[in-house]
Amino acid sequence: MASKTSIFLTGATGYLGGSVLQRLLTHPESSSFEITVLVRNAEKAKLLETFGVQTITGSYSDLDKLEVAAASSDVVFAIADCDDVAAATAILKGLKKRHIKMGTVPILIHTAFPLGVLVDNAEGKYATDNLYSDLDIPKIETLAPEQPHRQVDMAIVAAGEEGFVRTHIILPSTIFGIASGPLFDKGICNPHSIEIPCMIQIGWDRRESGMVGPGKNIWPLVDIDDTADLYIILFDRAREDPTVSHSRNGFYFAENGYYTHYDLAKATGQTLVDFQRATSAEPTPFTAEELEKYFAGSAFFGTNSYCKADRSRALGWKPIKTTQDMLDSIKPETMTLIKSGRIADPYKLKTVFGRYRDTY
Ligand SMILES: NC(=O)c1ccc[n+]([C@@H]2O[C@H](COP(=O)([O-])OP(=O)(O)OC[C@H]3O[C@@H](n4cnc5c(N)ncnc54)[C@H](OP(=O)(O)O)[C@@H]3O)[C@@H](O)[C@H]2O)c1
Repeated sequence: MASKTSIFLTGATGYLGGSVLQRLLTHPESSSFEITVLVRNAEKAKLLETFGVQTITGSYSDLDKLEVAAASSDVVFAIADCDDVAAATAILKGLKKRHIKMGTVPILIHTAFPLGVLVDNAEGKYATDNLYSDLDIPKIETLAPEQPHRQVDMAIVAAGEEGFVRTHIILPSTIFGIASGPLFDKGICNPHSIEIPCMIQIGWDRRESGMVGPGKNIWPLVDIDDTADLYIILFDRAREDPTVSHSRNGFYFAENGYYTHYDLAKATGQTLVDFQRATSAEPTPFTAEELEKYFAGSAFFGTNSYCKADRSRALGWKPIKTTQDMLDSIKPETMTLIKSGRIADPYKLKTVFGRYRDTY
């Protein structure tokens, strides 16, 4: 009997991690997978076990648990906090132990964020033309170590170059759309992304849509299902072919179009008008007080990030949804937030972006 593939996944209760886990559970080879997930919430851990998943109750602060779990795994999906150097180091330590014990080269699929690693300091004043392709590794290597997430990415690439693990870093853009499937229907996983719901919630709170400065800055975008599909395509390809780009060459952007923050804010404003929450669709710049109130003082939403997913497409990834789909998703997302009562919580970004307040 062929041996099973042991998989360890973090971020299982999240928007992206839940979407990837959902696909692993319905994968054509799922009967040959032994899936273990890290979960902070014990109740959710129990619910996840009913889907045939083993759970470890703990967080990224439990470095011993991360190391032990990685040491028992052929494949690790890291889809929780992409800034946590200690957690990434513990996972790499475990994978090294796996290599030494089994003589195999395990696979790491880590999640980062081009919105972090590529960003500038535009304050919404201009759109960049500085395009990064995931095939242009020398250009990616010019990024300063101080860029958000870069420390973690560099540690992962260095481990891959040592040869005990094949490392792959997926960098999804602004992900949009409501995540769906049984894990979400049961309330185990968060169905909402970060940026677009927060812009809706903030607009709802201030009764007009907002942006940083004139909102001319651009970011890339990608749909949630397209993004989760990329993880599975990479997982399948990396298992069947060890020469699939990894380690120094293992950067995979997820992008299928771009938007200016003005366009996002204008479409959000129109939705606020449609729901009679605002009288004008025209967005206005956040004041200094509002940047403090909603973003812990960070102007991160005024940055540019401009990337092209050439390597991901060369792998066979064919994303479907585009910028128009993102703009069209704002109204149904608003409706869902109203129904769940989450519309009245505009403060999630305070914790997400507060860490960048001294830089952006
Ligand atoms: N959404 C996007 O647009 C986007 C785009 C690119 C990259 N990313 C990155 O992808 C990752 C997941 O994002 P998401 O949108 O899925 O966010 P999310 O819905 O908030 O999910 C985050 C997941 O990570 C878990 N988690 C967070 N901190 C943890 C910690 N210290 N220890 C253990 N688990 C922890 C959460 O557990 P709980 O359920 O217990 O909170 C949850 O399962 C993040 O690193 C994010 O920066 C997101």
